[in-house]
Amino acid sequence: MARIIDGKAIAAGIRAQVAGWIGELGIRPRFAVIQVGDEPASTVYVRNKLAACHELGIETAEAALAGTTSQEDLLRIIGDFNDDPSLHGLLVQLPLPPHIRLEPVIEAIRPDKDVDGFHPLNVGRLTVRSRTPYLHPCTPWGIVYMLDTVYPKAGDASGLRGRRITVIGQSLIVGRPLAVMLQNDGATVTMCDRFTGDLGASVRGTDIIVSATGVPGLVDRGLVEAAGRSDLTVIDAGIARVNGKIVGDADPAIYDLVGAITPVPGGVGPVTVAFLMRNILKACCIQRGLPVPGFK
Ligand code: GUN
Repeated sequence: MARIIDGKAIAAGIRAQVAGWIGELGIRPRFAVIQVGDEPASTVYVRNKLAACHELGIETAEAALAGTTSQEDLLRIIGDFNDDPSLHGLLVQLPLPPHIRLEPVIEAIRPDKDVDGFHPLNVGRLTVRSRTPYLHPCTPWGIVYMLDTVYPKAGDASGLRGRRITVIGQSLIVGRPLAVMLQNDGATVTMCDRFTGDLGASVRGTDIIVSATGVPGLVDRGLVEAAGRSDLTVIDAGIARVNGKIVGDADPAIYDLVGAITPVPGGVGPVTVAFLMRNILKACCIQRGLPVPGFK
């Protein structure tokens, strides 16, 4: 039976660390979330993010906007939050309604308040491994942290150096920035998506599969067997609802076949929220010119 990478426990540890740093620094970070429309999954995610803030002593503001809100009104509200000096972190929950263009929305958020790490300046700084503090995207950051628990550092070197890692899913939220972060740690990364013709050929010999497609069962027995190793690690960053139940990309049948795996629910999801908390603290420190605790 695989080692289950317990996202809930890891997330609780990160939240406790952030709460400790907030106490030591004597600061009161403030975070705002904008939701456009009332997509049920987004409402749950927003609620989870706000609950984590309240647990850690992070103040919150929420703009719950009608699904018919215009692009101009949304950009104006982002501008108001950008200009509010009492507010350190801001995100717009995705997906947005189809009449709103994503790119101008992401670019409208002040990069030093962009706690999603989606703004091109933050993505660019990640890509060039900038020494200037910037904000990392939360899900990839959490995934790398979880992988570090399976492949510990050797001295200063990342335990991911030289590992073969197959990322399935090329989204802007997970797959693309994750590939960059893994490459920054010295991993050999193969990028695939749900349309890759022969996934089995792509995963042959891989140490780690990260799947973030939202296609239930995509990582099945056949794919694990194609990887051809009993110590395979699977990070399941997929999420879908099947018959009212939340499921990931991994077929439950593979739990007996792999070395380690993140469950869904209780894996990548809570760790993502914990890293959002870390980003809010980091954004607050950057804006106040304070040293960033645990700076990475
Ligand atoms: N929707 C699903 N994941 C995310 C995320 O990480 N950030 C935002 N803003 N929306 C999401």
